Amino acid sequence: MTATVSTLLLDWYDRAARRLPWRAPPGEAPPDPYRVWLSEVMLQQTTVAAVAPYFAKFTDRWPTVAALAAAPEEEVMAAWAGLGYYSRARNLVRCARAVAAMGGFPASEADLRKLPGLGDYTAAAVAAIAFGQRAVVVDANVERVVARLFAIREPLPGARKAIRAAADAITPSARAGDFAQAMMDLGATVCTARDAKCLLCPLAGECRARAEGDPLELPVKAAKKAKPRRTGTTFWIERDAPEGQQVWLVTRAPKGMLGGMRALPDDGWAARRDGHGDAPVSGAWKAGGVVRHSFTHFDLELGVAIHAGDKPAPAGEGEWWPLDRIDEAGLPTLFAKAAQLVLAAR
Ligand code: ADE
Repeated sequence: MTATVSTLLLDWYDRAARRLPWRAPPGEAPPDPYRVWLSEVMLQQTTVAAVAPYFAKFTDRWPTVAALAAAPEEEVMAAWAGLGYYSRARNLVRCARAVAAMGGFPASEADLRKLPGLGDYTAAAVAAIAFGQRAVVVDANVERVVARLFAIREPLPGARKAIRAAADAITPSARAGDFAQAMMDLGATVCTARDAKCLLCPLAGECRARAEGDPLELPVKAAKKAKPRRTGTTFWIERDAPEGQQVWLVTRAPKGMLGGMRALPDDGWAARRDGHGDAPVSGAWKAGGVVRHSFTHFDLELGVAIHAGDKPAPAGEGEWWPLDRIDEAGLPTLFAKAAQLVLAAR
């Protein structure tokens, strides 16, 4: 079965591969490792549709790993705003600097794994896609395809070991990058979480879950715990300056939630489980509504408090940012939503 699977899948990929900006067409020379690495980091926990404009923006602005290595970290963080999981952006800069210092990306999975921010998945993906090395590349799409193909019924995350071993057994030595991306494409377009389109699937004849009649039941996932809900407050402090309206922004501490990102000031919700903290300025506040945002481990309800005085003087470090350029501040989605809420209410 194993050789059959890779042959069937690669034949399908030759016909059906998605054309994506970071990819080489099937069978062609691999793309620039920088583009492969950048796309793989962006694609973690993030859809192809969401990544595409960011990939275009980054490669336009920083066309090589050396260019990215030379960029100020704040600029990269601001350009990343909206993509989420911001530790990826900080690691991106660290990794680019390490690679530039080495004179280029190493080609082996083991050496790639040593770079800042490269976990098992990314190291395997870059080794296979950019360097044609045989590597076992398992993301959530591949996990689903393999669990179905081999009818692995143990629940995730416990099933990961068995899934990896099965993925290893079907991974060919030739066309490693195409094979990895073919598995991803099959999972993203045919063997999806909601729909197993077996009539379109090149592996249908080999698939145990299909033979057993229940591909949609796999992979089994351990019951998820309900996410806790946290609350907090963010503060909108605006002034009327000769240059125009301005809002007070801060840069978040480098460590912790949304670390290093430009943001509206808040009451420290990120470091707290419950309750509310202090405002950065004294004075009267009025309620500006509530923003809801879902993080990996909790849901946040963030109240927006609008400063009601006309001459606010915030304490601590920060900057007055022109309101008509708020889109360029690089606010993470949570704070961009808060800003939109305030501005839309006018
Ligand atoms: N998801 C993660 N990496 C990918 C890739 N190279 N192509 C398509 N989807 C992906």
